[in-house]
Amino acid sequence: MSATSVYNAPARMLHWSLVALIAVEFGLAWLMPDVRRDTQPIGLIAWHIGVGTTILGLMLLRLLWRWGGGTPEPHPVVAPWQDRAARATHALLYAGFLVLPVLGWINASSRGWTVHLAGLLSLPALAAQGAGWAHEMGDVHQLVAYGLLGLIGLHVAAAGYHQFELRDGLMRRMWPKR
Ligand code: HEM
Ligand code: HEM
Repeated sequence: MSATSVYNAPARMLHWSLVALIAVEFGLAWLMPDVRRDTQPIGLIAWHIGVGTTILGLMLLRLLWRWGGGTPEPHPVVAPWQDRAARATHALLYAGFLVLPVLGWINASSRGWTVHLAGLLSLPALAAQGAGWAHEMGDVHQLVAYGLLGLIGLHVAAAGYHQFELRDGLMRRMWPKR
């Protein structure tokens, strides 16, 4: 398999680290206490924010790497509609996992919480404390999160179809080990 038919090592590392972080992030979202008016950003909620902002940072890095480091040749044996569907899904995953953490950040700012990147570096507020529109973004955050979960399901199903039904080696393009 030629070098340009697989994703390069940083792209693969970023893909699989983000898969792990996104799994952890959904786990934290489900385990953390309900966020109410007087809730403080401590414990699992602080973890949700720390991991979520890490995802945002790594997604930005990943997009920069994609633009600068290139992508492999398109996978050869798929129908044009499948190629279009894969491109659209990937574009939505990129956009979604940039927008989703920002929505959470906006909501956190409206609660007067200081958001820290990876729990370490404090970030500016994206909305005034008490701003109604920013409070609403909490619901939008939740809605977008579940939409993206559906999209991940589609993406994983497509990967499984290639791996187990078509057996066309697509998985090798992104597989962590060479
Ligand atoms: C990709 C990253 C993220 C994912 C997958 C994610 C996922 C979720 C999900 C599924 C919920 C709803 C939990 C439930 O059903 O009760 C939630 C709630 C919440 N998340 Fe995130 N989140 C992410 C990033 C962030 C970030 C970066 C922040 C803040 C800086 C944040 C702050 C919040 C807050 C404050 C809530 C409660 C919202 C409310 O109830 O009004 N999230 N998140
Ligand atoms: C077990 C879960 C997953 C598997 C098996 C998987 C598998 C794959 C494979 C095989 C590719 C390469 C597709 C190709 O060569 O055309 C790929 C690309 C991609 N995956 Fe996943 N994936 C998983 C989870 C995720 C998750 C959770 C995300 C969320 C961000 C994601 C985002 C992407 C993106 C954006 C691409 C396109 C890469 C690019 O061309 O820049 N994947 N995935």
